[in-house]
Amino acid sequence: MSLFESVKDRYIKDLKVGAKVDWYYKLAGISKKTKRDGGLYLALELMDKTGKIPAKVWDNVEACLKLLQEGKVYRLTGSVNEFMSKKEIKVDGIRAINPMDKDFSEADFVEQAGFDTETLFNGMIDTLKTNIENPHLLQLIDLFVQRYKEKFKTHYGAQKIHHAYLGGLLKHTQSMLELALFVARHYSLDKELLLTGVLFHDIGKMFEFKISPAVSLTAEGGLLGHLIIGSRIFTELSGQVKGFPEDLSLKIGHLIISHHGEKEFGSPEVPKIPEAFALHAIDLLDSKLNIMAEAIGSADSKDLFTEYLYPLGRRLYTGGAQENSGGVREDSGGAQEDSG
Ligand SMILES: [Fe+2]
Ligand SMILES: [Fe+2]
Repeated sequence: MSLFESVKDRYIKDLKVGAKVDWYYKLAGISKKTKRDGGLYLALELMDKTGKIPAKVWDNVEACLKLLQEGKVYRLTGSVNEFMSKKEIKVDGIRAINPMDKDFSEADFVEQAGFDTETLFNGMIDTLKTNIENPHLLQLIDLFVQRYKEKFKTHYGAQKIHHAYLGGLLKHTQSMLELALFVARHYSLDKELLLTGVLFHDIGKMFEFKISPAVSLTAEGGLLGHLIIGSRIFTELSGQVKGFPEDLSLKIGHLIISHHGEKEFGSPEVPKIPEAFALHAIDLLDSKLNIMAEAIGSADSKDLFTEYLYPLGRRLYTGGAQENSGGVREDSGGAQEDSG
């Protein structure tokens, strides 16, 4: 018998701190870690169709390592704890599923995009086509759609840091296109160049990491990174457009490889034309504001500040819980202390 009061409570997004867990979850990630005493423990990432949650295995680590495989579903017992203001599961027991386990369906573990990716993708292409007249660029966009639509539509925007969900790459790119339209007009930039740069800037992420069965870096991603992969994809596609102008090809290539802004952030060249700098700035704005929105949105309502966010180098002020907005906060058990 399940310990949950209702089926709904089993879903990851509905798990409450203190709850007992006895249900099926898919293993989205696993890594070996070292305890202070030198022993091993396992940091897992579990998922179902409603989201992801970290989990830790402190005992029987070697046996678990032999059993566990990313992308597979397991039956798990444990409890929901809070660590660094975030929920996580302390695993007491975990076992492989067997033919007797009939009370779940595969569909429970298929991640859903939180929006209609088909509509957003088509809207993005419409935006591009209504703002671009250059026939070479229009052909390039058509080739992109033919070749990459399905993969681009569903890929993550990043492995972990921002837009790390199904359709995240599309959402990030679409959001940047809106910003790019404004920025190009405001600073009298080459709009067609900037929009094309936005479309292609993170396209390499489709091959930098895979999202199924678990999110993980590919060999190509680790050895080349998404800037170089993206520039290769662009070179390959533009090579199929007869008479694609050399100068335009050079500039788009530059936008792709310089979009991280600085060499220490992985760009082999810094932005050297205004459109490249604009692309970098828009990318930074969209990714960092997304990190902020997600961190504040998922913060525990009783905490005034989020956990420490390494990509931003700070904790964010959340304003605390609406229910606590009268000024009286529940004791957060020392969560406000600097944990270092
Ligand atoms: Fe990027
Ligand atoms: Fe980006």
